[in-house]
Amino acid sequence: MLSTVVTAAYIVAALLFILSLAGLSKHESARHGSWFGIAGMAIALLATITLVIDGVYSGPGSAADAGKWGLGVLVVTMALGGSIGVRIARRVEMTGMPELIAMMHSFVGLAAVLVGFNSFLGAHGDSPQAVAEHERLEAMDMVGIHNGEVFVGVFIGAVTLTGSVVAYLKLSAKMKSSPLVLPMRHWLNLAAVLVSVALGAWFVISPSLVPLVLMTLIALAFGWHLVASIGGGDMPVVISMLNSYSGWAAAAAGFMLSNDLLIVTGALVGSSGAFLSYIMCKAMNRSFISVIAGGFGSDGQVTGGGDEDYGEHREIQADAVAEMLADASSVVIAPGYGMAVAQAQYPVADLTAQLRAKGVDVRFAIHPVAGRLPGHMNVLLAEAKVPYDVVLEMDEINEDFPATDVVLVIGANDTVNPSAAEDPSSPIAGMPVLEVWNAKEVIVFKRSMATGYAGVQNPLFFKENTQMLFGDAKERVGDILKVL
Ligand code: TAP
Repeated sequence: MLSTVVTAAYIVAALLFILSLAGLSKHESARHGSWFGIAGMAIALLATITLVIDGVYSGPGSAADAGKWGLGVLVVTMALGGSIGVRIARRVEMTGMPELIAMMHSFVGLAAVLVGFNSFLGAHGDSPQAVAEHERLEAMDMVGIHNGEVFVGVFIGAVTLTGSVVAYLKLSAKMKSSPLVLPMRHWLNLAAVLVSVALGAWFVISPSLVPLVLMTLIALAFGWHLVASIGGGDMPVVISMLNSYSGWAAAAAGFMLSNDLLIVTGALVGSSGAFLSYIMCKAMNRSFISVIAGGFGSDGQVTGGGDEDYGEHREIQADAVAEMLADASSVVIAPGYGMAVAQAQYPVADLTAQLRAKGVDVRFAIHPVAGRLPGHMNVLLAEAKVPYDVVLEMDEINEDFPATDVVLVIGANDTVNPSAAEDPSSPIAGMPVLEVWNAKEVIVFKRSMATGYAGVQNPLFFKENTQMLFGDAKERVGDILKVL
């Protein structure tokens, strides 16, 4: 009876997760999507806690003891984990989200590794429970399959764990974002995969801790190397790829724990992460396979951005920009990571409203990898209540720049860099960018002449129709508002 109720609850939760993903795919329905997700997770937790109370997940002693023991462990760990999670989530700035997400992915990887080892030891030890579990699997002729699940789950988990730690270190600038180029790096990756396959065969034929531990060490090193060898500009894809890996790791854990909901949820995260990686690769004109294979096909050399002389840049002050905007009939705003750092979205929304009230056509141009998260700019602008219909994707607006009077580049850099289109030796060569330089006037808001995330100098700043408005983006937009 209980297991039927729990199965029904899991099906409802799985449906809510699917509705959540569907809702999150559009601005208008994103809020509902979040609520579906929260409801699904609440149902899933309740159902799982009920199973634990019932003693289904084994612990020492009888089923009743197991229930009490399991509940005790669950309450303590959930209280501990929950309070740490709430503290971190309250403290984190929007700009710190990618690092936090990378860190979270590493926990999923770690969980899959621990579940794998636990699952193996729980069916191969001398204790009465392990012997009983082994007999149960044998009766179903499932020992080989179970070992295969354990092996694959630990492999994916270990790769996700160290890969995510490297992504965290790179995103938080604790490690250089340029690709690590070891000699024969692709052969090293291939060797890691082939040796792991051989260890897998050994493990399934004669299960023991030796091949499992050896593979875990290799997979940890493989995950580290895979992400370390991916360069700065490709990091957005790495994040969504690790998101996908964490989904597959969760699905593998679901197989090991015979938990259908974990399998479904893991598969949803895994496939949506893979699809997002594919979309981002297309947006950045990169080969999906080459990025997920640790930069395969690129020589990893970062050139460009050196000492080349681009000429002089010109400066402008806020009052002159205000005049320019008041005289313009069409304005496009290209926001980037700097807008998020400065939290300038609120004054930018005010500026948009004021100009629109004066009859100026104001629109936003959003690059697919602007900021540090997929959809980062969309979230900020929605937060500041900028109307959705003036927020356009790169492909929708790129052709309109020649007919635009003024472009305001607010804290964007790599995403408006003409060298991506013009210089084949640039590390971001081939990445489609917002062609803002085709507009009549371009104003760049930033604090200095420093490079952006990819570390490449930007020839846009030295073009004849570009003027730099230095300072914090929020303050400078505020200054313009005062004059207007
Ligand atoms: P970036 O190239 O990162 O440039 C941001 C610019 O903002 C910097 O040049 C910085 O110049 C300026 N800035 C920083 N704080 C500021 C402030 N308070 N006021 C004014 N300006 C400020 O930005 P982007 O064009 O958005 O490009 C995104 C980059 O991040 C791409 O290379 C992308 O590949 C990478 N990336 C994206 C993602 C995703 S999923 N979106 C994930 C990881 C990496 P100053 O220091 O001179 O002010």
